[in-house]
Amino acid sequence: MAYSILGAKELDGMRRAGRLAGELLGQVGHWVQPGVTTESIDAKVAAWTTERGAVSAPLGYRGFPKHCCISINEEVCHGIPGPRVIESGDLVNVDVTPILGGWHGDTNATFYVGMPSAEARHVTEVARRSLEIGLEQVRPGARLHDIGAAIQEFVHARGCGIVRAYSGHGIGRIFHCEPTVPHFKPPGRGVKLKRGMCFTIEPMINIGGYDVDHLEDGWTVLTRDGTLSAQFEHTVVVTKTGFEVLTVRDGPLFNSEDRPWVRLTEGRPGSS
Ligand code: MF3
Ligand code: CO
Ligand code: CO
Repeated sequence: MAYSILGAKELDGMRRAGRLAGELLGQVGHWVQPGVTTESIDAKVAAWTTERGAVSAPLGYRGFPKHCCISINEEVCHGIPGPRVIESGDLVNVDVTPILGGWHGDTNATFYVGMPSAEARHVTEVARRSLEIGLEQVRPGARLHDIGAAIQEFVHARGCGIVRAYSGHGIGRIFHCEPTVPHFKPPGRGVKLKRGMCFTIEPMINIGGYDVDHLEDGWTVLTRDGTLSAQFEHTVVVTKTGFEVLTVRDGPLFNSEDRPWVRLTEGRPGSS
């Protein structure tokens, strides 16, 4: 079967993997700090995952060398953790995919490091809301392309570009399968969504145009015009009446959903 269409028992497995992924991303929010290298965050992701009896899907996936992807500023996605030191002002996306009991939970978020620029905030908050808007389209009988159409309407109205070269994807026992989930409006209406269908929505939003380039490392994707890029991702399942986010989290993401600039401006007279 090309699509991942799951029954109740299989969904329990996906829920467990998804919750683990959500919990891990919550931890990551505390690990993204100025002065730390991206490989040190990767090492923490590796240890945390292993301790819970899970395996990192990225490791060895088509030769990818690390446990997670870390993409900074103009990097769009698939950044390889390494010796780079995170600096105050960076916009840092971390994408994690633990496999638990054979099921994949794929989720990512963009984190603020220190005080974000107005542009960094704009692209990040547009990306965050665009994922929610995509999710709100998901229900049985809706068409796949309703997702990208709604995202496009929202994002273009805010002057940002939507990466076209990478999309959401079906997920389950397999990391990437059908359907491909575009975050823009492609021709046609796409397949009808069906209860039990599992896929990701993961819009990559740029301050500038949608074009991307690749680094010589064979993985890192960058904006061609060098502008900032932000992304959020959830794994979702179509339910009887709508959707269920499988990569749920207990509370707001530290350094992201908690609007850290509020914390940073507190107690600084004249800075509000
Ligand atoms: N987690 C990414 C996604 O959202 C895929 C990463 S593949 C890797 O689909 F090999 F780069 F890890
Ligand atoms: Co994904
Ligand atoms: Co991902």
